[in-house]
Amino acid sequence: TGDGESSEESAHELRISKIRNGTVIDHIAGGHAPDVLAILGIDSATDEVVSVGMNVPSDRLGYKDVVKIEGRELSQDEVEVISLVAPAASINIIREYDVIEKNRVERPSTVEGVLSCPNRNCITTADEPVATRFEVLDDGVRCLYCGTIIRRRLTDHIDV
Ligand code: CTP
Ligand code: ZN
Repeated sequence: TGDGESSEESAHELRISKIRNGTVIDHIAGGHAPDVLAILGIDSATDEVVSVGMNVPSDRLGYKDVVKIEGRELSQDEVEVISLVAPAASINIIREYDVIEKNRVERPSTVEGVLSCPNRNCITTADEPVATRFEVLDDGVRCLYCGTIIRRRLTDHIDV
């Protein structure tokens, strides 16, 4: 620490408070925090403690979004889908105010769960559902069960 954004932040005041325990999803491209919130199932009905920064100045990205969630760690499945909407994101795990783990997201070859298949006849949407699995394409994802491709607005297809 001490370089880039941290020095920029410490020279002025923090835009969003530090958290004590939980997860900070940092370096989300500007404007994509709502996509990350959708993937995590956080909407206006949430009772989780969540801070969101949008279009915060960043040395690396120009402008970035940041999402901080108190008292929660993300599942691998959630992190993989986040990588599709925020490929430059870093996931910081916070314990007692310290960053104890920092990982850049990686683009997976497949994602499981989280997204739902829009094909009403797909086996994954049947009464006793099979967990969804999608192959990651350059410009979308393809259901491994029925071949349906989702190209746009991935976050319209969140399985909550
Ligand atoms: N953070 C937080 N609460 C803490 C500790 C850190 O909200 N108790 C946030 C920081 O504000 C920052 C992110 O978690 O957005 C990562 O923290 P840190 O590694 O200290 O910052 P940088 O060195 O700027 O991270 P990077 O090198 O990834 O840009
Ligand atoms: Zn399908």
